[in-house]
Amino acid sequence: MCINSNKLKIRNEEYNPIEVEEAGVKFFLPEKDSKPESEKKIGKSMSVFYNPRMTINRDLTICVVNTYSKQRTTKLSYCDSMAATGIRAIRLLKQCPGIEKVHINDLNPIAIETIKNNLELNEVPSGQYKLYTKDAKSLLSHFHEDTDEYFDIIDIDPFGSPCQYIPAAMQSISVSEGGGLLCATATDTPVLFGIKKEACIRKYLTSPIRTDFLKEMGTRIFIYYLAKIANLFELYIKPVISISANHFVRVFLLVRKGILGVNSNIREFGTYQYCRNCLHRSAEKFEYSKSTMKSNLCPICGETMISSGLLWLGDLHNSEYMTNLEGQLADSLIQSFPSYIQMKKFVELAKNENKFPPYFYSIPKLADSLNCTYPSLGKLREHLKELGHNSSRTHFDPQGLKTTASIVEMKNLLKNFQS
Ligand SMILES: C[S@@+](CC[C@H](N)C(=O)[O-])C[C@H]1O[C@@H](n2cnc3c(N)ncnc32)[C@H](O)[C@@H]1O
Ligand SMILES: [Zn+2]
Repeated sequence: MCINSNKLKIRNEEYNPIEVEEAGVKFFLPEKDSKPESEKKIGKSMSVFYNPRMTINRDLTICVVNTYSKQRTTKLSYCDSMAATGIRAIRLLKQCPGIEKVHINDLNPIAIETIKNNLELNEVPSGQYKLYTKDAKSLLSHFHEDTDEYFDIIDIDPFGSPCQYIPAAMQSISVSEGGGLLCATATDTPVLFGIKKEACIRKYLTSPIRTDFLKEMGTRIFIYYLAKIANLFELYIKPVISISANHFVRVFLLVRKGILGVNSNIREFGTYQYCRNCLHRSAEKFEYSKSTMKSNLCPICGETMISSGLLWLGDLHNSEYMTNLEGQLADSLIQSFPSYIQMKKFVELAKNENKFPPYFYSIPKLADSLNCTYPSLGKLREHLKELGHNSSRTHFDPQGLKTTASIVEMKNLLKNFQS
């Protein structure tokens, strides 16, 4: 690619070079048309994809990779398997001291030309990167065979569902020194959140339901799928940070080797039961040794409950990573990130999620079912405390509460606020 008289020339085609900056890193986007920014559509139709709304996804990746690299004794390799403009890989090189080499791939040749230009613009030495124009499945599944190496960190950030790339990632991730770090994004949220049930069964190998805590259910379905595929290769997973924000779910997990670990993953699989009549919900880990079917009648109102799963009922975050993330928020580089406030909020809301049942109550939905108003979440939490129940807000929903209280207690509490 060359920039000539304000035009970019890629493969004999001319593009308008749009200069963009993210977290102090400048890069160019090639644009075919000259529509004003406000009229441009973000999506597959762009010559090379860039979505500023995904900045939190990249900012958080920097923080998680920095935490991960502190736990490793060697310098690390990172594979950006779907790199688009290359901004993520370039930021990793500039903002993560533990990264020695990035492997940058995109199937789109225009993206690769753009990345070359952006690497040059950012004066990245040629020894720090390698470029590929391959299908990510092919790059990942043959990488070890071709090079005798594994990637320490793999990033999967496709349009829509990441499912078809996960088996290949499991074949090229390093499992030394506490495991490799897999970072995977899913943007097919209607599939994960129970709106497209058949697609979820087909892609994520499990069944969703429509609940008032669908973002948490979707995140747990995604982790279940990642664990299941890891388990096929006698690998197991340990989620370190999980987030559902904007229109995506992003999961960071360690991938390790060992059959005992595989068995411990399996013990974290389970199901949800949900009553659409009274909104009672429960979660139950799957007991493989029990052959008797449990009743699917609601213990509160007697109606038939619906069920979802298998899905991941284990921890969503690792406390060491969460504490480290919280610590990094004091760092001036992290404070300069565009999504700093959003990341801070995420940490505040997510850090206690593990301590509660694997679902939450949407307070507006509960109030709606009772045809009543509802107080602030702070007030509700004070009253729950008086009743002997701990509670926590959740990053999944600004109006959601995690608590050990039952649906009956929650409804009584809301009713008492009306009088
Ligand atoms: C959502 S964008 C990636 C955005 C980028 N990671 C970022 O943070 O800005 C998805 C990219 O995957 C590329 N792509 C789509 N299918 C692919 C495949 N099978 N193998 C490799 N790249 C692929 C597309 O060309 C596109 O650039
Ligand atoms: Zn019921």
